[in-house]
Amino acid sequence: MSSKSPSKIPHQSHRPPPKAKIAPPVAKPYTDTDGTIYPSKKAWKKSVKDATYELQKMVKRKKEKEEKRERREERERVEKEEMEKETEEERRGREERQLTAQKDRQKKIATQKADRLLKASSTFKITIDCSFETSMVSKERLSLSKQIIHCHAYNKRQVNPVRLDVVGLEGESRRGVEKMDGFPGSWGLFEDLTSIDKEGAVYLTADSENVIEELDPTKNYIIGGIVDRNRLKNFAIDRAKALHVEHGRLPINEHLEMTATKVLTVNHVFEILCRRRDVGWGDALLNTLPERKKAVCVEGEGEGGEDFKEDSKEDFKT
Ligand SMILES: C[S@@+](CC[C@H](N)C(=O)[O-])C[C@H]1O[C@@H](n2cnc3c(N)ncnc32)[C@H](O)[C@@H]1O
Repeated sequence: MSSKSPSKIPHQSHRPPPKAKIAPPVAKPYTDTDGTIYPSKKAWKKSVKDATYELQKMVKRKKEKEEKRERREERERVEKEEMEKETEEERRGREERQLTAQKDRQKKIATQKADRLLKASSTFKITIDCSFETSMVSKERLSLSKQIIHCHAYNKRQVNPVRLDVVGLEGESRRGVEKMDGFPGSWGLFEDLTSIDKEGAVYLTADSENVIEELDPTKNYIIGGIVDRNRLKNFAIDRAKALHVEHGRLPINEHLEMTATKVLTVNHVFEILCRRRDVGWGDALLNTLPERKKAVCVEGEGEGGEDFKEDSKEDFKT
């Protein structure tokens, strides 16, 4: 019997043969039936999926609008029938009640508006700078209008809203926003940024070397109204320099571990700023960013946040 234990058998004899190195597959361009060329079949599939989703969303919205219109017409019909049966006294009573209700409503709106303005004056301002209209393509402009609408709606739902101004909104982006009920009633619209207080302005850009650690309630934070899939490199920082205003980036690296892009959408930047007033950066960022970014807080952060995900359902493109 050999004195050698199995463990003493020279190691090399069990080593598997070296694996041949396989080069990563190179995506081949894919041509659609209508002749459109995509960088790969995967890109084509994604484009089909996106288009189907947009179509389904449109059909759903159209159906909802139609149902709403039908309900309104039915209500009006019933009201009309009842009014035709009214006596003179009943008519006078109804008109009086309607007038009182209208006055109450107007009073309530005025009080709410004054209250919101008072609350908004105690926090920073946010401005969306829409001076990049001509640099974007149609699809991007449409996405920008959706993001702006999202910011406005989000702000309206806040107990403590901020003052939100939209500057230089025109062309297709404006037409997209104009479709909203109540536009331009409660919107803060301005033509250009020439009259801004330069001292108090901070242009937000992921390309800045300045990290914003604290939000200053006296500042006006400007977000570049850009949707570009990072095609328009340095547009925001160049704009800040041209305007001679301070610039800064959100402290994403400092509070999150995330491999996805740190260039965020307009609405996400807006929501993060709003949330940061109530929670730490970790929670404000984490509760805003979509799941697909697979972000996690750096150690010791992000325990106290409420779940705000509800507000960020719409996952827009940057
Ligand atoms: C989709 S990004 C536009 C990217 C564009 N290439 C640029 O030059 O800014 C929309 C806007 O959100 C703001 N933004 C996005 N990510 C940011 C970050 N990490 N820090 C600060 N601002 C950011 C900027 O104002 C930016 O212009």
